[in-house]
Amino acid sequence: MSLASDLDFTGRRVLITGAANGFGAAMAALYAEHGASLVLADLEAEPLHAVASRLGAEALVFDQGDLASVAALAAQAGEVDVLVNNAGILVAKPLLDTDLADAARLVNVDFLGVMALMQGIGRGMVERRRGVILSISSQTAFCGGENRGVYAAAKAAVSQLSRAVAVEWGPYGVRVLCLAPGRALTRMTAETARADYSGDRGLARVPLGRWGTADEVAKMAFFLTSDAAAYVTGETLIADGGYVLG
Ligand SMILES: NC(=O)c1ccc[n+]([C@@H]2O[C@H](COP(=O)([O-])OP(=O)(O)OC[C@H]3O[C@@H](n4cnc5c(N)ncnc54)[C@H](O)[C@@H]3O)[C@@H](O)[C@H]2O)c1
Repeated sequence: MSLASDLDFTGRRVLITGAANGFGAAMAALYAEHGASLVLADLEAEPLHAVASRLGAEALVFDQGDLASVAALAAQAGEVDVLVNNAGILVAKPLLDTDLADAARLVNVDFLGVMALMQGIGRGMVERRRGVILSISSQTAFCGGENRGVYAAAKAAVSQLSRAVAVEWGPYGVRVLCLAPGRALTRMTAETARADYSGDRGLARVPLGRWGTADEVAKMAFFLTSDAAAYVTGETLIADGGYVLG
């Protein structure tokens, strides 16, 4: 029994979406360090190519809000051993100020696009009888939150979809999981949410007394998709410093 061999991704093809920034870029660096053959995908070509060339990875530009583009990504990516469904957007608005176009865009990217890629990549995994799919949910799936109505609902949908699909694909050796991070400072939170959660008002709810980091999220994603977590499926692991307990 060797933990080191469980954490070795040599020869495994890992597809990470949203890899140009934030959590996805941190994940890419970690998988690269552990020998994975990486396919990195994002909407933003320039930062994507920068991350990919630094890590010697393939780069594929796609739009997760466009189902034809998601299908094209699944076809281009080929045989994938691990899919990290990480790309996402946030619409931080009170429900009464959320118009249907905003809501539809968020649901397209954060739920339908995630589901379509799960299908597109999962089909081959089921045929080959092996694979792991990890989708990034959110603490808001569990605790909601001010200005997070549609986002929280879409993330909860991703967690429940993963539970259901884990039952369908478990017999084929495919694990389906979620990771629900708490607040961590990335571009997403820097641009839209720091004001909402700044100072003591937000932090007072975090038993560990600080926000998380992209590196911490990346390590949990890495662990859950590794063979060290081989008997875990359907689960959403909450990595939030205890926020949802409060
Ligand atoms: N930062 C947090 O506090 C936090 C907490 C919980 C969950 N999350 C989730 O973690 C994931 C990563 O977020 P992050 O904080 O790293 O944000 P980020 O904005 O730094 O990175 C998100 C990446 O997704 C890409 N992306 C956005 N829309 C896309 C689209 N339509 N098609 C393809 N790529 C697209 C962006 O270009 C970007 O590179 C998201 O799913 C987010 O909802 C973040």
